[in-house]
Amino acid sequence: MTNLIERLASIVGGRYVLRGDHADAEPYISEARGDYRSTPLAVVLPGSTDEVSGVVRACVDAGAAIVPQGGNTGLCGGAVAREGEVTVVLKRLDRVREVDTLNGTMVVEAGCILADVQSAARDAGRFFPLSLGAEGSCMIGGNLATNAGGINVLRYGNSRQQVLGLEVVLGDGRVWHGLNPLYKNNTGYDLKQLFIGAEGTLGIITAASVKIYPYPVRSRTILLGFSRLGACLELLSLAREESGDQLSSFELIPDIAMRAAAEHVEGCANPLADAHPWYILCQFATSSKVIPLDEMAEAFLERAYEAGLLSDAIVTASEAQERSLWRIREAIVAAQRMAGRSVSHDVSVPVSRVPELIERVTAALERVAPGVRPYPFGHIGDGNVHCNLLQPLDMNEASFVASKPLLRKTVYDIVLALGGSFSAEHGVGLLKRELMEAHKSPEELSLMRAVRAAIDPGGLLNPGKVV
Ligand code: LAC
Ligand code: ZN
Repeated sequence: MTNLIERLASIVGGRYVLRGDHADAEPYISEARGDYRSTPLAVVLPGSTDEVSGVVRACVDAGAAIVPQGGNTGLCGGAVAREGEVTVVLKRLDRVREVDTLNGTMVVEAGCILADVQSAARDAGRFFPLSLGAEGSCMIGGNLATNAGGINVLRYGNSRQQVLGLEVVLGDGRVWHGLNPLYKNNTGYDLKQLFIGAEGTLGIITAASVKIYPYPVRSRTILLGFSRLGACLELLSLAREESGDQLSSFELIPDIAMRAAAEHVEGCANPLADAHPWYILCQFATSSKVIPLDEMAEAFLERAYEAGLLSDAIVTASEAQERSLWRIREAIVAAQRMAGRSVSHDVSVPVSRVPELIERVTAALERVAPGVRPYPFGHIGDGNVHCNLLQPLDMNEASFVASKPLLRKTVYDIVLALGGSFSAEHGVGLLKRELMEAHKSPEELSLMRAVRAAIDPGGLLNPGKVV
């Protein structure tokens, strides 16, 4: 394997090959949540698509498996390489190659940080809608490889829907130059979609041609407080109707999360006068200078109050106020960690069944794990609930860890009974491989394996992940 390391160094330069057991490799060998960690043979940081191709060829010749990695913000172990494997970090491929406002496209390299992609679009008066908590450090290549979601999926779709073309290094080192920016292109199989959400098991995305939209220069964020969970569905319908579908986000926050944010994160006190069992944070946004957002918000709230759906609400009057509300949404994730041990489930159900999901999980926990505290939040406008559970206040760590399999089973059984998915936006990686085996149909699994074998017959791309 010394030979492989030397060859890699000759391709990318010695300073861009780190031995897996060396301290410099530390940022690339484990995940933020700490659930996955191991020591790869090497971490390689190529600086161009050609270098990625060279690295793949070198690994193939040496029989070493390849694990692509972006900003390493994943939560399912998809970007963690195991012993003997080589981590290929895309962060040096960080150029915005083109922003084309007339065609409504931009071409970005895999290692561009998501926030930088958003800024590059904004500098051209355009909007790149993918937005999520990790946007300051996650990279667009990883976002696409995992089909990341976030807070704007309701209006713009998830990562998959933003992509027009891809440049991909295949498992034998060949490069597929598929950066075609056409909005319409009906010529056979839509190959790019295979690589999106494949978590690096079919190829390494090195660049993408993505859609950009008019920048929503004006927006209002509304915080709703209410007591009956089921009301969230009627509130969603009303918000869409009354806004002329200018609704870009619709996020659920339970009172436990609102309280945790206030307690653990500075400047995140509940801005409503009283506490409520449930809150929705939603946003109306438009690129138009004449669409009357305040009137829309008023009409929406009037109907919601009339229908008895709402206890209290505030509409933002400034950008600063909007930012402070969205800070609370971000804070509930950090606050969950600070509130104690927890177990997370990134799941989805049909939108209409979100209240039922949360109610059934809560009731089931009271039976099987009394004291466990549900902490369900997230993108319910598209049916994605982070159905997370906090450790009971009086339980020790070991007992909680021992109860995790039962907690997981309780949540996933209900999700599946409601026709939902055990992974909505975070992917499969290592974490959910067993769920794939247990719950995907044999037809689906065999098709996925056939695709994998056809596209990467050598089987060295991110082995052991996804399927
Ligand atoms: C969020 C992450 C957990 O929605 O997906 O904040
Ligand atoms: Zn989320």
